[in-house]
Amino acid sequence: MNGTCRWFATGVLACAMQAGSAANAVDDSTLSAVGDGSDWPAFGRNYSEQRYSPLTEINTDTVARLGVEWVMDLPGDRSLVATPLVVDGVIYFTGSFSKTRAVEAKTGKLLWEYDPQAIEHAGDRLRIMWDQNKGPAVWGDKLIISTIDGRLVGLNRHTGEKVWETMTIDPRRAYYITGAPKVFKGKVIIGNGGTEQEAARGYVTAYDADTGEQAWRFWVVPGNPADGFENEAMEMAAKTWTGEWWKHGGGGNTWHGITYDPEFDQVLIGTGNGSPWNQKIRSPEGGDNLFLCSIVALDADTGEYKWHYQTVPGETWDYNSNMDIVLADLKYGDQTVKALMHAPKNGFFYVINRENGELLSAEKLGKVTWASHVDLKTGRPVETAGARYEDGEELVWPSPFGTHSWHAMSYNPNTGLVYIPTIEMPAVWKDDKVDFTAWQPPHFFVNVGVEFGTEDTPADYGEAFLVAWDPIKGEKVWKHELPPQWNPGTMTTAGNLVFEGRADGKFVAYHAGTGEILWTIDLGHGISAPPVTYSVDGRQYVSLLVGWGGAGLIAGTLAAQHGWKYGVHPRRLYTFALDGDAAVPPSPPPAWATPVDPKDFVIDDALAGYGQHIYAQSCFLCHGGGAVSGGNAPDLRESPIVLSKAALHDVVVNGAKRMNGMPRFKHFTDRELDALMHYVRKMARKASTAVAANP
Ligand code: HEC
Repeated sequence: MNGTCRWFATGVLACAMQAGSAANAVDDSTLSAVGDGSDWPAFGRNYSEQRYSPLTEINTDTVARLGVEWVMDLPGDRSLVATPLVVDGVIYFTGSFSKTRAVEAKTGKLLWEYDPQAIEHAGDRLRIMWDQNKGPAVWGDKLIISTIDGRLVGLNRHTGEKVWETMTIDPRRAYYITGAPKVFKGKVIIGNGGTEQEAARGYVTAYDADTGEQAWRFWVVPGNPADGFENEAMEMAAKTWTGEWWKHGGGGNTWHGITYDPEFDQVLIGTGNGSPWNQKIRSPEGGDNLFLCSIVALDADTGEYKWHYQTVPGETWDYNSNMDIVLADLKYGDQTVKALMHAPKNGFFYVINRENGELLSAEKLGKVTWASHVDLKTGRPVETAGARYEDGEELVWPSPFGTHSWHAMSYNPNTGLVYIPTIEMPAVWKDDKVDFTAWQPPHFFVNVGVEFGTEDTPADYGEAFLVAWDPIKGEKVWKHELPPQWNPGTMTTAGNLVFEGRADGKFVAYHAGTGEILWTIDLGHGISAPPVTYSVDGRQYVSLLVGWGGAGLIAGTLAAQHGWKYGVHPRRLYTFALDGDAAVPPSPPPAWATPVDPKDFVIDDALAGYGQHIYAQSCFLCHGGGAVSGGNAPDLRESPIVLSKAALHDVVVNGAKRMNGMPRFKHFTDRELDALMHYVRKMARKASTAVAANP
């Protein structure tokens, strides 16, 4: 069945049902509508990205009866961060390395499986990549997936057969994709990441959803002026850069945060941070560096620039605006504004008029010290002296994890509130030892132009909250403290509920108006994906992927405190319904690494120092800050392989575990291996000394 009410017209949810239609189409009309809630056909459920469902069977009165309907084990998976899509009673989702499945929603029966073989395609990009993928897109009879190695693949969604495949990046460069493709008007659009490991120049590309043929491309930052500009927007943007930025790429990579706005027929892209992060290197005389850290509106048919709003002029903290862009009609007195809402990393919550990009409000969502406020007259942030680490070192709120990262926020038109997972955490910016003029961009290793990735992060360094935010008043209505620091996205319903998983493995339903906790279940493993809801044959279901993962796991002890050790806890797809009576299958208790510290190993501090440098460039993204694994990969302090040079050589240089996601570093010599061994032993000894002193 299909609803006919348009979500953007009035916000009123009286949906006329069209009885008897056999199959739900996924096209512009369904994706523009609230619909009857039976499907969850797009990443944010529809074009609005509100993650709001009109379903009411599960509501504040009935949610106490919610139980497990079925569970699907996903033994080959690790990080699970995707938003599953549901059309006509079939769940489609991407797992680790974009392995894709179609599952019957009522029963959990597997219908088909497709493996894009991302590891085989990755080449050296296995080093930089994450195994996670944020989900597929559906258009008509196609299911379109992105792969970490840079492809879009169009599948027949009824059979899982590949129909087309397009490479969206230059595979010689260290770009990658973790974001979900987005569809609109017969096109599919995708960006990429790469600003940490490459002289990256960001762009988004739109393709024909049925054939994969390129329709248009928009570059986010200007290239070398000597090569000519692609369009007037790039010519304008180039005036806001200094030095020879193009040698460093410039950045702006759009790895997430793309919304199609049907009312203005525009694509809104949330753009990324600088490449490198440090502006002193990238654009030494300053400048706003357009279109870094901005929302840019593009004509949906041509990709031509329409307007932009920059949240962080002259970005220098990895503050990107890649977070989701949510569309809503907001009422200011008797005036209704076609607004977009956006909570980027920088800690402010923005409301912008999407007809023209005019800033309506920007209020602090958590602790922010880089700017005192945003001046509504100029639309610009008022920065704090010292925040740009002018003297070579500064502690600044928020950290590169952002006050809000990619974990989806949701908007409930009935309560008028936005439900946002937030992180309150600072970072130290230090570049006093960086030679700005001699600096060279990295190529398949991490170098961001400031010290980054060399230290562990203490367990109590960050706090996390679920915040219910009134976008019109610009203030918190309620909030709950969450386990630190990495909690997934939210979903909200006409049943007056908000659902959110948590880093500690609990899945919780809150009263959308008051925040009261109405239902909780312990799923035995850290949750990193947002839930979805839909109905089949008139019964409402909630589905959720459970599999700890994502960039937050690099935060060493802070991430490791939950005990979601690599390879220990099962990955699963859960489906819930009222009176569901399946059991939660067992999961081992939290587990932590036991660092080994052979007393006869004599640590050479100089070698260990070099090892720390190599580790920060090439290992910490997966194995964790300070050699403390947050769960993305084994904790090297307890690995027997690191105790043996030959075994280490086999794994690191020969690539013995490559098919399990452990990349190969063919160029490492004995010196690098020795240095890594000494660094890991030093970190293991530090841990065992701390335990001995504090049993
Ligand atoms: C892209 C993520 C990633 C990066 C980067 C990475 N690793 Fe790994 N590593 C893994 C994964 C995943 C495994 C586990 C593979 C498996 O399950 O067998 C692993 C396993 C290992 C192991 C085997 C541990 C054991 O006891 O089984 C060693 C040793 C290792 N890595 C060392 C390193 C070193 C040294 C670096 C940096 C030079 C590095 N890794 C960089 C993901 C990564």
